[in-house]
Amino acid sequence: MQKILDYITENRGRFEADLTQWLSMASVSTDPAFAPEVRRAADWLTERMKELGLTTRLVTTNKHPIIIAETDPVPGAPTVLVYGHYDVQPPDPLDEWTTPPFEPTVRNGNIFARGATDDKGQMLTHLLSAEAWLRTGSKLPVQLKFLIEGEEECGSKSLYELMNGEYDNGKSIVEGLSNDIVVISDSSQFGPGKPAITYGLRGITYYEVRLTGPSQDLHSGAFGGAVTNPANVLCRIVGSLLDADGRITLPGFYDDVVDLTSVERKQFADLNFDDQEFMDKLGVDGMTGEKGYGTLERRWARPTFDVNGLWSGYQGEGAKTVLPARAGAKFSFRLVPNQDPKKVGAALAKYLKSMLPMGIKMELIDRHGAPGSMVPLDSPYMAAAAAAIASGFGTKPVFIRSGGSIPIVNEFSSRLGSDTLLLGWGQDDDNMHSPNEKFSLDDFHRGIQASAHLWEEIGKIPAKGNG
Ligand code: BES
Ligand code: MN
Ligand code: MN
Repeated sequence: MQKILDYITENRGRFEADLTQWLSMASVSTDPAFAPEVRRAADWLTERMKELGLTTRLVTTNKHPIIIAETDPVPGAPTVLVYGHYDVQPPDPLDEWTTPPFEPTVRNGNIFARGATDDKGQMLTHLLSAEAWLRTGSKLPVQLKFLIEGEEECGSKSLYELMNGEYDNGKSIVEGLSNDIVVISDSSQFGPGKPAITYGLRGITYYEVRLTGPSQDLHSGAFGGAVTNPANVLCRIVGSLLDADGRITLPGFYDDVVDLTSVERKQFADLNFDDQEFMDKLGVDGMTGEKGYGTLERRWARPTFDVNGLWSGYQGEGAKTVLPARAGAKFSFRLVPNQDPKKVGAALAKYLKSMLPMGIKMELIDRHGAPGSMVPLDSPYMAAAAAAIASGFGTKPVFIRSGGSIPIVNEFSSRLGSDTLLLGWGQDDDNMHSPNEKFSLDDFHRGIQASAHLWEEIGKIPAKGNG
């Protein structure tokens, strides 16, 4: 192990250079204008994997390519599937970035760029730890498989299709992905110097609603009061989805919600989360949410409704008295494990229809959805991950849940029968999806070390015999 750790120390500079290069590629998956940059990022990673001697395939899809790579099989040893994504969220609003999103810049020990923490920087730690094992001539104690996709940030559609056998001449890749355990680094630690293992993720279901009123914008004085205003209707509908107690009003919405146990509430409370520090960091002077729950409970283990985008009418300088012809919104529900996105969608469609007044036409688009997930805490893999993190970060991890979603995690359990280790190296204030996204270079290097230890630790567990 020592020569592997030495290799990691000696190569710090080169690892950072690799990260910088990769982060300079604008692999925004949701906007077709960025498709060439997405491809460049995929090609870069494919090339790196090939250089390391991994058996590597770039699978083209209807949208963005998926990279599948593996090291040589290790008879009798477990197989680990590392999942990650090379796509990133749009960088807007651009004028709020201190330095441009695709010109990675180091300040105060952090590298600033879109994708730094989500997920290029975190994902890369596993490839670099594999490099350290392979380039020092050490025999990897596990077989590593990599599955790195380019559409996580917009719902993982092509990956679902690939698992359903829609590419590759109808051959499903499910068999090729067989493994003992999945590893994902695409979440956060509990705080600086407080590494964590995440054992629960929320699900999500995302919609766009478009309301159309008159065939064109009208004078709000000449027509207002008689012609239904789609912006008014949108506000009323969207506003009615949450009640004064912060509860979602859709009929039946809470039917499948599993309540937090008193044991888990106690565990959350024992983490001593500091609300004031959290508010200070975010620049807010107070918080609201579902009545009867604390901040961690609301963020990790309760469902939510949030508007993600909203448009209508005049947005320019000054006032314009207009009755807009159209109004629209993007919004999503975060779901807790056991809630079914499809069921929520059906309730939503029914509710929206019931709220629609005369004179307005509605289009409801289901953008994407995935249920939440939970990982058993009492597995040997959890113990292995905890040991690896203790070695790499110099302190034992705490166990947390997380409010974010990684859609494909459910397929790993239902299709591959695998549990997932969610080993986040990021920080809550890394600005995922926000301006000035960053990743601590110390966390980057500690992540590489923890990952190098992880292969060793998992290698001690007997293989399930499916690899
Ligand atoms: N890395 C995040 C998920 C995440 C964030 C997990 C914070 C744990 C803590 C991931 O890239 C992400 O942003 N997922 C989307 C999924 C959606 C687009 C289907 C999300 O959660 O909004
Ligand atoms: Mn991510
Ligand atoms: Mn993300």
